[in-house]
Amino acid sequence: MGLERLKFLIMNRISNSVKEYLDKNYILLDEVDSTNEFCKSEGIKSDCIVRALRQRNGRGRMGRKFFSDAGGFYVSYCFFPQKLRAETLLPLTGLCAVGVSKAIERTTELCPTIKWTNDLLLCGKKICGILAESVFCEDFTAERVIIGVGINTNQGAECFEGELEGIASSIYAICGKRVDEDALLYNLTEEMQKIYSLLGGRAEEMKPYVDFYRSHCETLGKEIKILKPSISGGRDPRELYLEAPELFPTARAVDIDDSFGLIVKYPDMKEETISFGEVSIR
Ligand code: BTN
Repeated sequence: MGLERLKFLIMNRISNSVKEYLDKNYILLDEVDSTNEFCKSEGIKSDCIVRALRQRNGRGRMGRKFFSDAGGFYVSYCFFPQKLRAETLLPLTGLCAVGVSKAIERTTELCPTIKWTNDLLLCGKKICGILAESVFCEDFTAERVIIGVGINTNQGAECFEGELEGIASSIYAICGKRVDEDALLYNLTEEMQKIYSLLGGRAEEMKPYVDFYRSHCETLGKEIKILKPSISGGRDPRELYLEAPELFPTARAVDIDDSFGLIVKYPDMKEETISFGEVSIR
């Protein structure tokens, strides 16, 4: 190993096991439709990390598009677990929000907040989205788990004009600091390995993650609209919300439960835990 490389690993506190894991499993592409879709292809048969410098058809949650031009950081972690049942994957999304947040913090010394369920924000603007997906076997165990992470790292502010204006931005556009993407990759890989090892384990082991999530979650304490997919009948609930917000219930976000569900309180004081979907902060 060259001296420069060694210095980089030490400076960024990178462990040897992460380095070896990346050496074996990392695939870097110039361009791809979507790194998550790439991980689902038949040719992928063992754990891998697929990163692309841009995506032609980056995918977001709820069938949305994820803006993926050059300058951002687009990566998917594909794991092949042993007999993990579907219900054990419920905390995955929340765990990932924490893991990605820690990796960004360690790389940039900036501290993003979390908007439930798993958008990361800096100065109120979205800088990262996470799309966790699984492919299941007939016995309802996961054949593969794919964690797609899109971080707006080094794009210029002009990339977020138009429909993204005021909603999304990049770390560079907000802070004027370029993100060291090699360090980010190492830190993120370390976090993802930790999260993967927690899946199917004991709830107590996830407690520090739930505590971190709670203390960084900017949704808590706010009045929100709950964008329930059941109300929008197949349409993107966010689209319908923009046309007719009164169709969706209003509540106050009061806490996060042990599986990263959002506990909300309605005006009549009834409580509900929301495990899926999206909220809009009013
Ligand atoms: C969201 O904000 O709705 C989630 C966005 C997830 C984007 C990432 S970029 C890498 C991976 N490949 C995809 O097509 N999507 C995820």
